[in-house]
This record gives sequence, C-alpha cells and structure tokens, in this order.
Amino acid sequence: MKDSAKEIPVAKKFIPLARPDIRDEDIALVNEVLRSGMLVQGEYVLKLEEAFSDYHNVKHAIAVSNGTATLHLCLKVLGIGRGDEVILPAFSYIATANVIELVEATPVFIDIDDKTFNIDTRLIEKKITGKTKAIIPVHEFGLACDIKKVCAIAARYNIPVIEDAACALGAKQNNKLVGTYGIGSFSLHPRKSITAGEGGILLTNDDLLAMKLRQLRNHGIWIENGRMDFVEAGFNYRMTDFQAALAYSQFQRLDMILEKKNQLAERYFSTIKNSKVKLPSLPEDRNHTWQTFHLLLSDPVAQQEAIEFLKKEGIGSNYGAQCIPAQTYYYKKYNLNAEKLFPNALKAYKQGLAIPMYERLTEEDVTHIANIINTLC
Ligand SMILES: Cc1ncc(COP(=O)(O)O)c(C=O)c1O
Repeated sequence: MKDSAKEIPVAKKFIPLARPDIRDEDIALVNEVLRSGMLVQGEYVLKLEEAFSDYHNVKHAIAVSNGTATLHLCLKVLGIGRGDEVILPAFSYIATANVIELVEATPVFIDIDDKTFNIDTRLIEKKITGKTKAIIPVHEFGLACDIKKVCAIAARYNIPVIEDAACALGAKQNNKLVGTYGIGSFSLHPRKSITAGEGGILLTNDDLLAMKLRQLRNHGIWIENGRMDFVEAGFNYRMTDFQAALAYSQFQRLDMILEKKNQLAERYFSTIKNSKVKLPSLPEDRNHTWQTFHLLLSDPVAQQEAIEFLKKEGIGSNYGAQCIPAQTYYYKKYNLNAEKLFPNALKAYKQGLAIPMYERLTEEDVTHIANIINTLC
C-alpha cells in the first residue's frame, strides 16, 4: 500500500491524535463479505470470535455491536438493576458509568492511582456493601490495572468482576492477558489497537453466561429443533459480518501493531524531557499496549492552552478521559465533590494530555511531537 503520509515533510502535515491503519488486505476482506450478501452474524463474526477465544485461551468470545453494548449486556445478564451498586473508577470513558445508569443501578466511584490512572485498589473494600453486585475495573489507556488484587477482593465477597478492557487488547498482568481474569469486555472502536469501525467482544469461560449473552445480543432468541422462540426481551446488539471481517483482518497483525506502538512509546520516553510534563508509569508486573500515550501536565501548564498550541503546531491532542462524577449528568444526580473525593481522577481529567499514538506514526513523527512537547511551559 502506498504510504502517502510519508511523502509529506513531517513539519507540514497534520498529525492526528489517532488514526486507524486500514490496509488493502482489510479492504479486500470487507469487500468479499459485501459481495457475499451475508452481511450480519456470518462467517467472519464466527472467525473473529474464534480468534479472540484462541488468543485468550478462553472458552467463549461473543461479538457485539460496540464496547458499550458489551458492558450493558454483562450487567443485564448478571441481573443487576434498581437498588444494586456497581463499583468503578471515577476516571474512565463515560460509557463505563452510563451502562450502570442504563440498568438503573447506582455507580459507586473510586478514585484512581495517580501514577497508573487505574482504580486505586486500596479504596475498593471500604466501598463494598450488601448491595454491591459487580466491580468494573478499567484497564485505562491500555495498561492493565492491578486486576489480580481486584479479583482477590471480589472473590472474598463473591462479587463478579467485569473487566472493562475496551482499550487494552493484549495487555497483561503477570503474563496473563486482561479480559481473562473476570468477564472480559473489549471495544473495537477506531481508536483501539484493532478496529471493526464499531464493535465489541465479550470473553467468558462460563457456558451458561455465554449462552445468555448470545441470547440477549439477539432479542432473547432461543432456537429448538430449528424453531425460533423469544424467551427474553433482548437487544439487537449483533455485529455485522463486514465489520467482523475488518477486525479479523487486523487481528492477524495484532502482535506487529503492539510491537510498533511499544517502539513509538520508547521514543517518546527517550525524547520528552520537560520538567512540566510527567510521563506515564509502567508497573513491573505489567505491559502497556499504548492505546493512549497520556501525559500529566504540571499545574502551571494549562491543558486547553497546550491542546491549542499543539494544534497550531499541526499536532492533534486532547484530554485523556473523564472524571465521571464531575460530568453534568452525574454531578446533578449524585452531587459528589470530586475535588475532595476523587482528587486524582479530577487531576487526570484536568491536567491529562493524550498525544498521538497509532501504528502508522513514524519515529520521525514522534521525535517531532516530543520536541514540540519539550517547548511547553
Ligand atoms: C474504558 C472504555 N470503556 C468503554 C468504552 C466504550 O466502547 P465503545 O466506544 O466501543 O462503545 C470505551 C470506548 O472508548 C472505553 O474507552
């Protein structure tokens, strides 16, 4: 494939925050499905599911329409609803909390660790009550949270863990892939390492749970002796086959994609040298998959000004994720003082800066971005 990005001198082109790498072979496979006329829940949905279950060595992978639907389905299948509480980090993409609202349960927010941007596991136990029906830890920005610790706590109270691994395909703690500790939930949005356009995957070893997830993904369908019946009021959360083909084609390159991002991250680490900018932390027992390269600006550097400055320099950037209790809907409903209760989440929201990270960036691009970051003050 012709790499048009390489033809533009680095200082002149706009470098977006993210960009999916869609190659000729991906397009060819999507075209094959489009020509087949079998557009929904066909061969490539099954192939993608098999690829995910093989890669993770988990019995069941269930493909659905997006990574919000995956979380929503989990809560529904676990029977979580009004009067129940679900624990989650205060810093994540809004979807993690919205699904709890959608089932009319109550989100119980926990502050994050200021180095990893992941849930602070020391704070979880204090928030567990008789009403706690699930914990949704998030592997933020592609770095595994301390999922071993989360699962150990959850096991003591017999609470299911839904891993929000939307950003973290391929991330591990102690060499065990995320999404295999609890029920695994992944997103295939274009900002993730591989994409279906929109898409999501669930992982579980539990046969009954998998059967219910498949059923609810498709209107509550039950087929016996070739006859269809609908035994639940379910959803249409099916994935189209051409989207599955896109993700399946990209999945073949996953190791390469993660390796390339790792190299780019190393380049950022070796070239960003600015005392006003904190680089991401990497705990020893984990690998980072760099869905986002997330810096923390020190107080005097205003986030919005930094974003505008980078834009003028031809570089896309943005804040990394939301401090959810501070978002209007959640603030109006729960009136939680984020400054007091979730200082690290608020700081990450207000001082975080996501900078470009994707497979097609060149080392030259990264050096250029790092050099501009070094002038922020
Ligand atoms: C942490 C997290 N959870 C859930 C989601 C929702 O995934 P989707 O956009 O595929 O619905 C995202 C998406 O970015 C995410 O970052």
